[in-house]
Amino acid sequence: MKKFVSLFAVLILIAAVWSCRNETPDVRIIPQPVMLSIDPQMVNFPLNKPIYTSSNDSMLLVAAGYLGTKLGIHGYQIGVPNPGKCIYLKMVDPAPGVNPESYTLVTDRKGIMIQANSAKGVFYGIQTLLQLLPPEVYGDVGITRKSYVKVPKVSIQDQPRYAWRGMHLDVGRHFYSVEFIKKYIDMLAMHKMNVFHWHLTEDQGWRIEIKKYPRLTEIGSLRKNADGTTYGGFYTQEQVKEVVAYAASRFIDVMPEIEMPGHSVAALAAYPELSCTGGPFEVRSAWGVSEDVYCAGKESTYKFVQDVLSEVIALFPFKYLHIGGDECPKTRWAKCPDCQRRMKAGGMKNEMELQSYFIRRMETFLISKNRSLVGWDEILEGGLAPEATVMSWRGEAGGIEAARQGHDVIMSPTDYCYFDFYQGDRRYEPKAIGGFLNLEKVYSYEPTPAELTAAEGKHVLGAQGNVWTEYISTEKQVEYMALPRMSAMAEVVWSPRELRDYEKFLFRMERQYERFDAMRINYRVPTPVTTADSFIFTDTLSLDFYTAAQNAEILYTVDGSDPQVSGKVYSEPIVLKANATIKAVSRMKSGRTSAMVEISAEKQEMLTGMQLSAGEIKGIDYDLYSGLFKSTIDMDSQKSVSRGVMTSFGLPEKVPSKPFGLIMRGYIKIEKPGVYRFYLKSDDGSTLTIGSREVINHDGEHAPTEKTGETALGKGWHMYELRYFDAGGAKSLELNWSGMGIAKEPVPAEKLASLTNAIVMMAH
Ligand code: ACM
Ligand code: ZN
Repeated sequence: MKKFVSLFAVLILIAAVWSCRNETPDVRIIPQPVMLSIDPQMVNFPLNKPIYTSSNDSMLLVAAGYLGTKLGIHGYQIGVPNPGKCIYLKMVDPAPGVNPESYTLVTDRKGIMIQANSAKGVFYGIQTLLQLLPPEVYGDVGITRKSYVKVPKVSIQDQPRYAWRGMHLDVGRHFYSVEFIKKYIDMLAMHKMNVFHWHLTEDQGWRIEIKKYPRLTEIGSLRKNADGTTYGGFYTQEQVKEVVAYAASRFIDVMPEIEMPGHSVAALAAYPELSCTGGPFEVRSAWGVSEDVYCAGKESTYKFVQDVLSEVIALFPFKYLHIGGDECPKTRWAKCPDCQRRMKAGGMKNEMELQSYFIRRMETFLISKNRSLVGWDEILEGGLAPEATVMSWRGEAGGIEAARQGHDVIMSPTDYCYFDFYQGDRRYEPKAIGGFLNLEKVYSYEPTPAELTAAEGKHVLGAQGNVWTEYISTEKQVEYMALPRMSAMAEVVWSPRELRDYEKFLFRMERQYERFDAMRINYRVPTPVTTADSFIFTDTLSLDFYTAAQNAEILYTVDGSDPQVSGKVYSEPIVLKANATIKAVSRMKSGRTSAMVEISAEKQEMLTGMQLSAGEIKGIDYDLYSGLFKSTIDMDSQKSVSRGVMTSFGLPEKVPSKPFGLIMRGYIKIEKPGVYRFYLKSDDGSTLTIGSREVINHDGEHAPTEKTGETALGKGWHMYELRYFDAGGAKSLELNWSGMGIAKEPVPAEKLASLTNAIVMMAH
């Protein structure tokens, strides 16, 4: 009997624990709210009552309608809800000093209440509520087919850290449909972002209808490709209004960017008389920066851009308007009589001041229309317009300078905010413009530079991610480049700095990926990663994989076959005993897979070390060669011009001033047999051979980049040869090693013996 009782008790306990587990709310909100308290229970919430709103404020009703569509609740009722569970959206008068975007959200047995002092705050509460619900709420029909949902019992108080939480999209280099622009706006909305920066004009295409200048779209929206085909597209003013209204219904402001004075070739193709030279021009099909820009001398240019801006202002109610201002070469202005005349008349010392004049005129015009000017940080050159807001992209220096001058700034430095950069190993990524900006780096961004005082820091309105589209020809690819990095940026601009934790963010991202799946977004699935691209081993190799998508499985093969066809699910380190090509992908729950990574593992015999005569001589022998080499093997046909002995790897003190080559030789001592990794950094080319093996081939002309290689080395001395050449320009050479307990460091001098006089005694 006693036994029975205790077994029974255990069963009850198990059942209790089990049901508690089932009920434990799994709350994963992005961006992380300021204050979130979770009760360990779920509440059943019926979906058969109207949504109550505290007033008939039109935007509050917009927010209610938005939520109703997601939940299949049609109709709303104004007033305090009757007893019984329902959703209550309550807007209260703003208290002084309260962040206008703040909200509270409470879910309990009485119902769901979102309270804020603006409809916008209520909308953010709604976004948080959606993230408490199953991811399918983000699908086309939401969760409309259900009669009730389970909601975690929570109490949340939340508000954004920054007022400017933006995402940019360049529709000049490539054009995207209105439907897609709306989807992009939905992506912003779910992240509580509030500015869509719409980059509408470029050298490669003018994308907005301007009624007074029809040729802007008739001619300026089309470009000829190299293969003779035509590429183009533009938004009619009706479509622009539709986008602006759609964004407004998601509490997002749309900031148009009309580029000037540079990046204007599409406009000049339509109206060449606005240039310094008179043209003719073709809408540019190559990327890069054009020398042809608007003429800053002719009065007709100012009339034109003001006419254009007048139509733009009528379409976009947002206070801010971006006039570009970046990358404007001054070559044409320097030779243009009109530009020079205007400079002389205005007492301007150089073309920078002419640019400043141009931007100031635009600002005066915008202010007269009740708008504020935003420009890229080049608008600092020649003097900032009095009230301009600076968007800092060439690093943070422009933003810092502008904030110190008392101007508002929006941070968007390339290193952290350019989502056209690669987000993973280039070998596996679709072609991108360059750079490297992975999810973790975006997440690490701090928009307020430490250099600023508290008062100056207040000028940092926020930050934004930029999606330039030279290499993003499809809408799917925009999604791939924007997500998940937008999620990281959202948390950077919304959540308190002290709550930012990358591992926890990745945990929360699991649910976010499911939401993206429901929205059918082609986000980047993080690839599996391990510590290196290639491995050398002597006996067995144990390979660990990791993926930044915590709920993804990793599928892998070790025989070179396609892991999506024949892959095993990774669950523990892969142990290899022979040469292998490992191919791996991450696979999300939805079935979407990442790009495939390929890793080589080579089993090597250890090279046999040798013993040197007792009289070993420390140092490295080197020979210098004179000549312009393109490769390290070019030195083979040359005679050494000088030689010597040095003590550590690098460039000898005296090298020919002209392009030159260098060969270093000697022995390297290994005490502990095993696999060693060498790191060769050089500008230009270099190679490292140990014994009979080429360990690193970093040959050819290049910038100071590092390449690594491994090799298995037995105990004793090993002969090596390190070759290097400098083809002109900067020169550098550095060699480090690691392995068998040695952290990356230069090879110590006592482990290097000169070849001269060294007598090889015997194989060890
Ligand atoms: C820019 O990336 N040219 C602002
Ligand atoms: Zn000119």
